[in-house]
Amino acid sequence: MGREFNELFNEWAQSYDQTVTGHDPEYEEVFIDYDKILSTVAEKSSGTTIEFGVGTGNLTAILNNKGLNVIGIEPSEGMREIAKQKLKNITILDGDFLDFPQIDLEINTIVSTYAFHHLTDGEKDLAIQKYSKLLKDKGRIIFADTVFPTEEAKQERIRDSRNKNFNRLADDLQREYYTTIPVLRNIFEKHRFTVDFIQLNPFVWLMEAKKEERS
Ligand SMILES: C[S@@+](CC[C@H](N)C(=O)[O-])C[C@H]1O[C@@H](n2cnc3c(N)ncnc32)[C@H](O)[C@@H]1O
Repeated sequence: MGREFNELFNEWAQSYDQTVTGHDPEYEEVFIDYDKILSTVAEKSSGTTIEFGVGTGNLTAILNNKGLNVIGIEPSEGMREIAKQKLKNITILDGDFLDFPQIDLEINTIVSTYAFHHLTDGEKDLAIQKYSKLLKDKGRIIFADTVFPTEEAKQERIRDSRNKNFNRLADDLQREYYTTIPVLRNIFEKHRFTVDFIQLNPFVWLMEAKKEERS
């Protein structure tokens, strides 16, 4: 469950850092302000932090430089190996959003960039339920990912990508589980988070969810 994209990421691992610097025209808009997006997520993080889908470890490095205690989780072996080479002193574990080794620490923040869309909406719901139990009171989830304001906006973006002959991007938008802001808001609120969405580039939105205090 949730690991069906491992093969794809094992293949992408070696060239991933080139893609995020805008070298792939199809993904240029997706990765506009990539470094700034990662820094925004890091600025909002504090204390002991779990990062899901670390990829090649770019956000992990920023969190670590900020002095946070980071535990990284990544299902793709290819990605994990690159992240481990870059970040020798950081724990990067084999796991995914739903299935990961037990962490016996109080968790202040859960972060992720460009990854939550690998879960179906049902799996996203299970993940947020799990994090609600894992996080300390006042804990936060800070995600940045491609999200659409509405289903119509998503379909329009797929049509636009096909018109530009960006077929890899269009296939990706159709194959993976990109969702809408109303769906995500509903999931966070169901599990007693208050959540804000801020658009960071034409595709990516910041989601900042705060766990409500128990009354
Ligand atoms: C587009 S990359 C993003 C990497 C990194 N977070 C970044 O911002 O550059 C997506 C990452 O999510 C990982 N991933 C895919 N499915 C996942 C899952 N179910 N749980 C956690 N991570 C997953 C992939 O292996 C890949 O490393």
